[in-house]
Amino acid sequence: MCGIVGYVGKREAYPILIKGLKRLEYRGYDSAGVALISDSGELNVYKQKGKVADLEQYTADKDCSGQIGMAHTRWATHGVPSQINAHPHVSQSGRFALVHNGIIENYADLRKQLEEKGFTFKSETDTEVLVQLIEYTYNAIARRGGQHSGESLHRDILSAIRLTLRKVVGAYALVLIDRNDPDAMFCARKASPLVVGLGEGEYFVASDATPIVEYTDQVIYLNDGEIALLRRGKDIKIINLENLKVPAEIQTIDMDIDQLEKGGYEHFMLKEIYEQPRSIRNCMSGRVSPEGVVLSAVRDNKERLLRANRYIIVACGTSWHAALIGKHLIEHLCRIPVTVEYASEFRYADPVLTGDEVLIAISQSGETADTLAAIDLAKRQGAFIFGICNVVGSSIPRATDTGCYIHVGPEIGVASTKAFTGQVTTLAMLALCLAREYGTCDPQEYSEILADLQRVPDLMERVLTEGPDLAPVASIFTYARNFIYLGRGYNYPVALEGALKLKEISYIHAEGYPAAEMKHGPIALIDEEMPVVFIATRNFMYEKVVSNMAEVKARKGRIIAIVSEGEADAVAQIADICIPVPCIHECLEPLLTTLPLQLLAYHIAVCRGLNVDQPRNLAKSVTVE
Ligand code: G6P
Repeated sequence: MCGIVGYVGKREAYPILIKGLKRLEYRGYDSAGVALISDSGELNVYKQKGKVADLEQYTADKDCSGQIGMAHTRWATHGVPSQINAHPHVSQSGRFALVHNGIIENYADLRKQLEEKGFTFKSETDTEVLVQLIEYTYNAIARRGGQHSGESLHRDILSAIRLTLRKVVGAYALVLIDRNDPDAMFCARKASPLVVGLGEGEYFVASDATPIVEYTDQVIYLNDGEIALLRRGKDIKIINLENLKVPAEIQTIDMDIDQLEKGGYEHFMLKEIYEQPRSIRNCMSGRVSPEGVVLSAVRDNKERLLRANRYIIVACGTSWHAALIGKHLIEHLCRIPVTVEYASEFRYADPVLTGDEVLIAISQSGETADTLAAIDLAKRQGAFIFGICNVVGSSIPRATDTGCYIHVGPEIGVASTKAFTGQVTTLAMLALCLAREYGTCDPQEYSEILADLQRVPDLMERVLTEGPDLAPVASIFTYARNFIYLGRGYNYPVALEGALKLKEISYIHAEGYPAAEMKHGPIALIDEEMPVVFIATRNFMYEKVVSNMAEVKARKGRIIAIVSEGEADAVAQIADICIPVPCIHECLEPLLTTLPLQLLAYHIAVCRGLNVDQPRNLAKSVTVE
């Protein structure tokens, strides 16, 4: 949701900001804007509806000089995507400009109060309220103490921001610049991410580290309620909402710039699909060996994890599908009850917790607002929190008691692919690791799963390089209006994920169902127009799924079947199209059966001429509830 970039230093800010916005465009892409204090001391603000490229075109003949500036790419919450609602927003006098990610929940009240004081508003956004309130508060401070410059001016602006934020209910990451001071930039965060990069006498600030990594690997992740002052050539100063100084905790980030580029692929999504053999190898690296699985998070918290009376997994979207697979894995191997909850439901469901639970929070971005709120609720009731995240240093890993990163590298395509398989792999490792501690798993089965887990990257490679070309299959179904995906057991969440991928990027209505549930409703939809995707691999439910397939065939549905290698001939009598995948232990099948479904969705979206990496209305990191 909304991407922020800022720069203050000795370089020209504009190219850094635009490049940064492009890196962050996966966060929101309905409008974009930039504010710079020019060489002649003007505050220039340029905004445009549409993508960053539209903004770039719009600014082509404008004065974009200046060594301080900030930029924003928006995912609309308050007010339609438009030039006026795009950020940055400027205060009444034209002095302060501000970009914001998050939601100010009490903005209507604050706006009313400001209107009563004579402020007028140009946009419908909650953000404009913030910048106006900061100006109003600053003016009140200046009236009492006189107009300052230098250190004292910075102190006054910090106070104005701090006092404003104390009045605000909601979430924010914000950056502010002052037309009267081209040397300083202010930023703050609460429940929305913000990272400060430290260069040579210069600072970068961004919603995540991706726009920063090519300039520096030294970063500070701001914590909730912190406000930072970034001055050219001077040390960073951080205070909290109580006006206490906070020490800066500098971290070194390890991110490969190549991971942020398309590397010859047409889309990030395709690149990320093909990256999966490598990303799963990384995910298991140092953790899985022929002797077993070692997760430091389990080793270091064994006693607390084993004393849990149940596990609760919370997540949203694709991560929730991984959670469903995790439930099967943990229940089967560890014989402990597991429930899976949508984080957005759990947080308001008044759940019954005894304090002995372990709550596993799964999130690619590590920033999902609902998942963070679910963690907070469970924590307050004594649960032990275990995070499974991808983005290092993001909010969820910092809010948990322990956890595992999935280590699949940055995922840029909005539709999640390699993060899903990374999450499932991590859940398999966790289940195996816990099973050994509990002593609940049959040693032979344990060895089989462990051996198969180590084969996954090679088998993925085979699916991706030797599997049938799905582009021609996609061209048959390009104009389908609906799709049904069916699977059972471990492959039921795969059916859900396949359907989600298709609807996210192709805008075709698609539903995932447990195959046997089909006869309780969806079967009514089946006719010769309806494509039905079956995940029908050779496991203990194979025959049952094939019977379901026959039921669809009898009603003239068009069947695409994901089958185990060697079974294609048998299923070919019923299915229109068979896509074979290698055989593997049933509990790891999702790691292979998902891949053709990702590719099918991808190719259908391409055939429809859609923007695969930035599907309409979606955002990769959902920092609002
Ligand atoms: C958004 C993304 C999905 C993602 C979901 C949960 O909807 O578009 O791809 O699965 O958020 O995000 P998380 O980062 O918590 O896994």
